[in-house]
Amino acid sequence: MHGDAELRQRMTALIGGYQLSAAIGAVARLGVADVLADGPAEPRRLAECVGADLRSLERVLRVLEDTGLFTRFEDGRIGLTALGELLRGDVPGSARRGAIASTEEWRWRAYGHLTHSVRTGEPGFREAHGCGLWEYLDREPGAAAMFNESMSRVAAANAAAIVRAYDFTGVRRLVDVGGGHGVLARAVVEANPELRGIVFDLPGVIEGTRTHLADAGITDRCDAIAGDFFAAVPAGGDAYVLSWILHDWDDGAAAHILANCRAAMRSGGRLLAVEMVVPAEGEPAVSPDLDRLVKATDLEMLAIVGGRERTAAEYRALYAIAGFELVRILPLDGLPWSVLEGALSL
Ligand SMILES: C[S@@+](CC[C@H](N)C(=O)[O-])C[C@H]1O[C@@H](n2cnc3c(N)ncnc32)[C@H](O)[C@@H]1O
Repeated sequence: MHGDAELRQRMTALIGGYQLSAAIGAVARLGVADVLADGPAEPRRLAECVGADLRSLERVLRVLEDTGLFTRFEDGRIGLTALGELLRGDVPGSARRGAIASTEEWRWRAYGHLTHSVRTGEPGFREAHGCGLWEYLDREPGAAAMFNESMSRVAAANAAAIVRAYDFTGVRRLVDVGGGHGVLARAVVEANPELRGIVFDLPGVIEGTRTHLADAGITDRCDAIAGDFFAAVPAGGDAYVLSWILHDWDDGAAAHILANCRAAMRSGGRLLAVEMVVPAEGEPAVSPDLDRLVKATDLEMLAIVGGRERTAAEYRALYAIAGFELVRILPLDGLPWSVLEGALSL
Protein backbone atom coordinates (compact mmCIF):
# COMPACT_ATOMS: atom_id res chain seq x y z
CA MET A 1 0.00 0.00 0.00
CA HIS A 2 1.18 3.53 -0.75
CA GLY A 3 2.82 5.04 2.34
CA ASP A 4 0.47 8.02 2.77
CA ALA A 5 -2.64 5.86 2.37
CA GLU A 6 -1.31 3.44 4.95
CA LEU A 7 -0.70 6.24 7.41
CA ARG A 8 -4.18 7.65 6.83
CA GLN A 9 -5.68 4.22 7.41
CA ARG A 10 -3.77 3.79 10.65
CA MET A 11 -4.88 7.23 11.75
CA THR A 12 -8.53 6.41 10.97
CA ALA A 13 -8.25 3.20 13.00
CA LEU A 14 -6.70 5.06 15.95
CA ILE A 15 -9.35 7.77 15.92
CA GLY A 16 -12.07 5.14 15.73
CA GLY A 17 -10.72 3.34 18.82
CA TYR A 18 -13.66 4.67 20.83
CA GLN A 19 -16.07 2.65 18.65
CA LEU A 20 -14.26 -0.57 19.50
CA SER A 21 -14.27 0.23 23.21
CA ALA A 22 -17.99 1.03 23.08
CA ALA A 23 -18.76 -2.14 21.11
CA ILE A 24 -16.75 -4.32 23.51
CA GLY A 25 -18.47 -2.65 26.48
CA ALA A 26 -21.90 -3.31 24.97
CA VAL A 27 -21.35 -7.01 24.27
CA ALA A 28 -19.74 -7.45 27.69
CA ARG A 29 -22.73 -5.80 29.39
CA LEU A 30 -25.18 -7.95 27.41
CA GLY A 31 -23.28 -11.13 28.28
CA VAL A 32 -22.83 -12.23 24.64
CA ALA A 33 -19.65 -14.23 25.35
CA ASP A 34 -21.33 -16.04 28.24
CA VAL A 35 -24.11 -17.24 25.95
CA LEU A 36 -21.53 -18.42 23.41
CA ALA A 37 -19.59 -20.31 26.09
CA ASP A 38 -21.55 -23.49 25.23
CA GLY A 39 -20.69 -23.20 21.53
CA PRO A 40 -21.54 -21.14 18.44
CA ALA A 41 -25.10 -19.83 18.14
CA GLU A 42 -27.44 -18.54 15.47
CA PRO A 43 -27.56 -14.74 15.61
CA ARG A 44 -31.34 -14.80 16.20
CA ARG A 45 -31.02 -17.12 19.18
CA LEU A 46 -28.09 -15.10 20.50
CA ALA A 47 -30.09 -11.86 20.25
CA GLU A 48 -33.03 -13.48 22.07
CA CYS A 49 -30.79 -14.83 24.83
CA VAL A 50 -29.13 -11.49 25.57
CA GLY A 51 -32.24 -9.36 24.98
CA ALA A 52 -30.88 -7.45 21.96
CA ASP A 53 -32.25 -6.15 18.68
CA LEU A 54 -31.09 -8.73 16.09
CA ARG A 55 -29.99 -6.31 13.36
CA SER A 56 -28.18 -4.02 15.78
CA LEU A 57 -26.37 -6.88 17.48
CA GLU A 58 -25.22 -8.19 14.10
CA ARG A 59 -23.84 -4.76 13.19
CA VAL A 60 -21.82 -4.59 16.40
CA LEU A 61 -20.57 -8.16 16.07
CA ARG A 62 -19.49 -7.47 12.48
CA VAL A 63 -17.07 -4.85 13.77
CA LEU A 64 -15.82 -7.13 16.53
CA GLU A 65 -15.27 -10.01 14.08
CA ASP A 66 -12.68 -7.81 12.36
CA THR A 67 -10.87 -7.33 15.67
CA GLY A 68 -10.69 -11.08 16.29
CA LEU A 69 -13.12 -11.34 19.24
CA PHE A 70 -15.83 -13.29 17.45
CA THR A 71 -15.91 -15.53 14.43
CA ARG A 72 -18.70 -16.19 11.93
CA PHE A 73 -19.08 -19.69 10.52
CA GLU A 74 -20.21 -20.39 6.95
CA ASP A 75 -23.65 -21.40 8.20
CA GLY A 76 -23.99 -17.94 9.76
CA ARG A 77 -23.50 -18.97 13.40
CA ILE A 78 -21.40 -16.77 15.66
CA GLY A 79 -18.65 -18.23 17.82
CA LEU A 80 -16.01 -17.06 20.28
CA THR A 81 -12.32 -16.86 19.46
CA ALA A 82 -9.67 -17.53 22.13
CA LEU A 83 -9.46 -13.75 22.64
CA GLY A 84 -13.24 -13.40 22.87
CA GLU A 85 -13.33 -16.11 25.56
CA LEU A 86 -11.84 -13.51 27.90
CA LEU A 87 -15.15 -11.62 27.77
CA ARG A 88 -16.89 -14.49 29.54
CA GLY A 89 -17.65 -13.68 33.15
CA ASP A 90 -16.68 -17.11 34.45
CA VAL A 91 -13.13 -17.63 33.13
CA PRO A 92 -9.90 -17.02 35.07
CA GLY A 93 -8.64 -13.52 34.29
CA SER A 94 -12.03 -12.55 32.86
CA ALA A 95 -12.06 -9.10 31.22
CA ARG A 96 -15.87 -8.79 31.33
CA ARG A 97 -16.20 -6.62 34.45
CA GLY A 98 -13.26 -4.49 33.33
CA ALA A 99 -14.85 -3.94 29.92
CA ILE A 100 -18.10 -2.87 31.58
CA ALA A 101 -16.40 -0.62 34.14
CA SER A 102 -14.22 1.03 31.47
CA THR A 103 -17.25 1.95 29.38
CA GLU A 104 -19.50 3.27 32.13
CA GLU A 105 -21.23 6.41 30.93
CA TRP A 106 -19.84 8.54 33.78
CA ARG A 107 -16.27 7.60 32.84
CA TRP A 108 -16.82 8.35 29.13
CA ARG A 109 -18.19 11.76 29.94
CA ALA A 110 -15.01 12.54 31.91
CA TYR A 111 -12.84 11.52 28.95
CA GLY A 112 -14.95 13.82 26.77
CA HIS A 113 -13.25 16.63 28.71
CA LEU A 114 -9.68 15.36 28.42
CA THR A 115 -8.63 18.49 26.52
CA HIS A 116 -9.69 20.51 29.57
CA SER A 117 -7.54 18.23 31.75
CA VAL A 118 -4.55 18.74 29.49
CA ARG A 119 -5.02 22.53 29.46
CA THR A 120 -5.53 22.91 33.19
CA GLY A 121 -4.37 19.76 34.99
CA GLU A 122 -7.91 19.51 36.43
CA PRO A 123 -9.81 16.21 36.17
CA GLY A 124 -12.16 16.10 33.18
CA PHE A 125 -14.55 14.33 35.54
CA ARG A 126 -15.21 17.53 37.49
CA GLU A 127 -15.86 19.47 34.29
CA ALA A 128 -18.29 16.77 33.10
CA HIS A 129 -20.17 16.16 36.34
CA GLY A 130 -19.76 19.39 38.32
CA CYS A 131 -18.22 17.55 41.30
CA GLY A 132 -15.36 15.18 42.15
CA LEU A 133 -15.55 11.39 41.78
CA TRP A 134 -16.09 10.65 45.49
CA GLU A 135 -18.96 13.13 45.81
CA TYR A 136 -20.49 11.72 42.63
CA LEU A 137 -20.29 8.14 43.88
CA ASP A 138 -21.90 9.23 47.13
CA ARG A 139 -25.02 10.35 45.29
CA GLU A 140 -25.09 7.63 42.59
CA PRO A 141 -25.54 4.29 44.37
CA GLY A 142 -25.51 2.25 41.13
CA ALA A 143 -22.15 3.69 40.02
CA ALA A 144 -20.80 3.39 43.58
CA ALA A 145 -21.79 -0.29 43.84
CA MET A 146 -19.97 -1.05 40.62
CA PHE A 147 -16.90 1.00 41.58
CA ASN A 148 -16.58 -0.52 45.05
CA GLU A 149 -17.13 -4.01 43.68
CA SER A 150 -14.39 -3.55 41.10
CA MET A 151 -12.03 -2.12 43.75
CA SER A 152 -12.71 -5.11 46.00
CA ARG A 153 -12.13 -7.57 43.16
CA VAL A 154 -8.66 -6.22 42.39
CA ALA A 155 -7.94 -5.71 46.09
CA ALA A 156 -8.49 -9.43 46.71
CA ALA A 157 -5.51 -10.40 44.49
CA ASN A 158 -3.41 -7.57 45.94
CA ALA A 159 -4.29 -8.46 49.51
CA ALA A 160 -3.01 -12.03 49.16
CA ALA A 161 0.27 -10.72 47.68
CA ILE A 162 0.63 -8.05 50.38
CA VAL A 163 0.14 -10.60 53.15
CA ARG A 164 2.83 -12.77 51.52
CA ALA A 165 5.27 -9.91 50.95
CA TYR A 166 5.01 -7.91 54.15
CA ASP A 167 5.71 -9.12 57.69
CA PHE A 168 3.07 -7.63 59.99
CA THR A 169 4.68 -9.13 63.11
CA GLY A 170 4.58 -6.58 65.91
CA VAL A 171 1.65 -4.64 64.43
CA ARG A 172 -1.20 -4.72 66.93
CA ARG A 173 -3.47 -2.11 65.43
CA LEU A 174 -3.64 -1.54 61.68
CA VAL A 175 -5.64 1.29 60.13
CA ASP A 176 -6.59 0.87 56.47
CA VAL A 177 -7.12 4.47 55.37
CA GLY A 178 -9.56 4.69 52.45
CA GLY A 179 -9.89 0.93 52.86
CA GLY A 180 -13.08 0.56 50.79
CA HIS A 181 -15.06 -2.53 51.73
CA GLY A 182 -12.20 -3.94 53.81
CA VAL A 183 -10.80 -6.67 51.58
CA LEU A 184 -7.18 -5.91 52.48
CA ALA A 185 -7.84 -5.40 56.20
CA ARG A 186 -9.69 -8.70 56.30
CA ALA A 187 -6.80 -10.59 54.67
CA VAL A 188 -4.25 -9.04 57.05
CA VAL A 189 -6.39 -9.70 60.14
CA GLU A 190 -7.06 -13.30 59.11
CA ALA A 191 -3.34 -13.96 58.52
CA ASN A 192 -2.22 -12.27 61.77
CA PRO A 193 -4.22 -13.43 64.80
CA GLU A 194 -2.60 -10.86 67.12
CA LEU A 195 -3.65 -7.92 65.00
CA ARG A 196 -6.81 -5.78 65.15
CA GLY A 197 -7.88 -3.81 62.11
CA ILE A 198 -9.77 -0.61 61.43
CA VAL A 199 -11.17 0.17 57.99
CA PHE A 200 -11.62 3.91 57.55
CA ASP A 201 -13.54 5.35 54.60
CA LEU A 202 -16.28 7.82 53.65
CA PRO A 203 -19.70 7.29 55.30
CA GLY A 204 -21.40 6.10 52.09
CA VAL A 205 -18.74 3.42 51.58
CA ILE A 206 -18.38 2.30 55.18
CA GLU A 207 -22.00 1.04 55.30
CA GLY A 208 -20.96 -1.63 52.76
CA THR A 209 -17.74 -2.29 54.70
CA ARG A 210 -19.75 -3.16 57.83
CA THR A 211 -21.76 -5.71 55.85
CA HIS A 212 -18.61 -7.26 54.35
CA LEU A 213 -16.84 -7.52 57.72
CA ALA A 214 -19.96 -9.07 59.25
CA ASP A 215 -20.24 -11.58 56.39
CA ALA A 216 -16.58 -12.49 56.97
CA GLY A 217 -17.30 -13.01 60.68
CA ILE A 218 -14.51 -10.68 61.84
CA THR A 219 -16.38 -7.77 63.44
CA ASP A 220 -14.80 -8.69 66.79
CA ARG A 221 -11.33 -8.03 65.32
CA CYS A 222 -11.96 -5.40 62.67
CA ASP A 223 -13.93 -2.16 63.02
CA ALA A 224 -15.35 0.05 60.29
CA ILE A 225 -15.12 3.78 60.99
CA ALA A 226 -16.55 6.55 58.79
CA GLY A 227 -14.78 9.85 58.27
CA ASP A 228 -12.81 12.14 55.97
CA PHE A 229 -9.05 11.58 55.76
CA PHE A 230 -8.53 15.29 55.08
CA ALA A 231 -9.98 16.03 58.53
CA ALA A 232 -8.37 13.24 60.60
CA VAL A 233 -7.80 9.48 60.61
CA PRO A 234 -8.35 7.08 63.55
CA ALA A 235 -5.65 7.50 66.19
CA GLY A 236 -3.43 4.94 67.90
CA GLY A 237 -2.50 2.62 65.03
CA ASP A 238 0.99 1.27 64.69
CA ALA A 239 0.58 0.72 60.95
CA TYR A 240 -1.39 2.85 58.50
CA VAL A 241 -2.10 1.40 55.07
CA LEU A 242 -2.91 3.62 52.10
CA SER A 243 -3.73 1.27 49.24
CA TRP A 244 -4.35 3.12 45.97
CA ILE A 245 -4.97 6.34 47.81
CA LEU A 246 -1.97 8.60 47.17
CA HIS A 247 -2.17 8.23 43.38
CA ASP A 248 -5.72 9.66 43.49
CA TRP A 249 -4.45 13.04 44.64
CA ASP A 250 -2.06 15.84 43.67
CA ASP A 251 1.04 16.37 45.81
CA GLY A 252 -0.55 18.89 48.18
CA ALA A 253 -3.56 16.71 48.96
CA ALA A 254 -1.46 13.51 49.18
CA ALA A 255 0.94 15.17 51.65
CA HIS A 256 -2.08 16.33 53.69
CA ILE A 257 -3.37 12.73 54.00
CA LEU A 258 0.12 11.51 54.97
CA ALA A 259 0.45 14.26 57.57
CA ASN A 260 -2.88 13.21 59.11
CA CYS A 261 -1.60 9.62 59.34
CA ARG A 262 1.59 10.87 60.97
CA ALA A 263 -0.38 12.90 63.51
CA ALA A 264 -2.55 9.89 64.38
CA MET A 265 0.05 7.11 64.64
CA ARG A 266 1.89 5.79 67.69
CA SER A 267 5.59 6.47 67.98
CA GLY A 268 7.48 3.88 65.97
CA GLY A 269 4.49 3.55 63.65
CA ARG A 270 4.80 2.55 59.99
CA LEU A 271 3.18 3.92 56.89
CA LEU A 272 2.48 1.42 54.11
CA ALA A 273 1.40 2.82 50.76
CA VAL A 274 0.47 0.35 48.04
CA GLU A 275 1.08 1.91 44.64
CA MET A 276 2.61 1.41 41.23
CA VAL A 277 6.16 2.78 41.14
CA VAL A 278 6.90 4.45 37.82
CA PRO A 279 10.43 4.05 36.39
CA ALA A 280 12.32 7.34 36.56
CA GLU A 281 13.18 9.29 33.39
CA GLY A 282 15.83 7.32 31.49
CA GLU A 283 15.32 4.17 33.62
CA PRO A 284 14.36 1.19 31.45
CA ALA A 285 10.74 -0.01 31.61
CA VAL A 286 10.34 -3.31 33.47
CA SER A 287 8.27 -4.71 30.58
CA PRO A 288 6.27 -3.27 27.67
CA ASP A 289 3.03 -4.46 29.35
CA LEU A 290 3.85 -2.70 32.60
CA ASP A 291 4.91 0.40 30.70
CA ARG A 292 1.52 0.51 28.95
CA LEU A 293 -0.32 -0.06 32.24
CA VAL A 294 1.60 2.72 33.98
CA LYS A 295 0.78 5.19 31.20
CA ALA A 296 -2.88 4.15 31.02
CA THR A 297 -3.36 4.35 34.80
CA ASP A 298 -1.64 7.70 34.93
CA LEU A 299 -3.98 9.05 32.24
CA GLU A 300 -6.94 7.68 34.20
CA MET A 301 -5.74 9.57 37.28
CA LEU A 302 -5.51 12.77 35.23
CA ALA A 303 -8.95 12.42 33.66
CA ILE A 304 -10.92 11.06 36.60
CA VAL A 305 -9.49 12.26 39.89
CA GLY A 306 -6.65 14.73 39.23
CA GLY A 307 -3.99 12.48 40.77
CA ARG A 308 -0.96 10.83 39.19
CA GLU A 309 1.43 7.88 39.28
CA ARG A 310 4.84 8.64 40.79
CA THR A 311 8.47 7.51 40.69
CA ALA A 312 10.28 6.23 43.79
CA ALA A 313 12.04 9.61 44.10
CA GLU A 314 8.69 11.41 43.96
CA TYR A 315 7.26 9.17 46.70
CA ARG A 316 10.41 9.75 48.76
CA ALA A 317 9.95 13.51 48.45
CA LEU A 318 6.23 13.28 49.27
CA TYR A 319 6.94 11.18 52.37
CA ALA A 320 9.62 13.66 53.47
CA ILE A 321 7.18 16.61 53.29
CA ALA A 322 4.88 14.76 55.70
CA GLY A 323 7.70 13.72 58.08
CA PHE A 324 8.28 10.17 56.87
CA GLU A 325 11.36 8.47 55.52
CA LEU A 326 10.78 6.00 52.69
CA VAL A 327 12.72 3.02 54.03
CA ARG A 328 11.84 0.17 51.66
CA ILE A 329 10.02 -0.59 48.45
CA LEU A 330 8.72 -4.17 48.34
CA PRO A 331 7.47 -5.22 44.89
CA LEU A 332 4.43 -7.52 45.03
CA ASP A 333 5.05 -10.87 43.41
CA GLY A 334 3.60 -11.00 39.89
CA LEU A 335 1.72 -7.72 40.31
CA PRO A 336 2.57 -4.22 39.12
CA TRP A 337 2.25 -2.73 42.62
CA SER A 338 4.68 -2.31 45.50
CA VAL A 339 4.48 -1.66 49.23
CA LEU A 340 6.27 1.60 50.03
CA GLU A 341 7.19 1.40 53.68
CA GLY A 342 7.66 4.66 55.52
CA ALA A 343 8.97 5.28 59.04
CA LEU A 344 8.70 8.45 61.08
CA SER A 345 11.69 10.68 60.35
CA LEU A 346 13.81 11.59 63.34
C1 LIG B 1 -9.08 3.94 44.68
S1 LIG B 1 -10.10 3.53 46.06
C2 LIG B 1 -9.05 2.39 46.93
C3 LIG B 1 -9.80 1.47 47.85
C4 LIG B 1 -8.96 0.45 48.60
N1 LIG B 1 -7.95 1.07 49.44
C5 LIG B 1 -8.31 -0.54 47.65
O1 LIG B 1 -7.08 -0.66 47.63
O2 LIG B 1 -9.04 -1.24 46.93
C6 LIG B 1 -9.99 5.01 47.04
C7 LIG B 1 -10.78 4.96 48.33
O3 LIG B 1 -10.61 6.21 49.01
C8 LIG B 1 -11.84 6.57 49.62
N2 LIG B 1 -11.87 8.01 49.88
C9 LIG B 1 -11.90 9.01 48.96
N3 LIG B 1 -11.92 10.21 49.58
C10 LIG B 1 -11.88 9.96 50.92
C11 LIG B 1 -11.87 10.80 52.08
N4 LIG B 1 -11.88 12.13 51.95
N5 LIG B 1 -11.82 10.21 53.30
C12 LIG B 1 -11.80 8.85 53.43
N6 LIG B 1 -11.81 8.01 52.36
C13 LIG B 1 -11.85 8.55 51.13
C14 LIG B 1 -12.85 6.13 48.58
O4 LIG B 1 -14.15 6.04 49.09
C15 LIG B 1 -12.27 4.80 48.12
O5 LIG B 1 -12.75 3.72 48.89
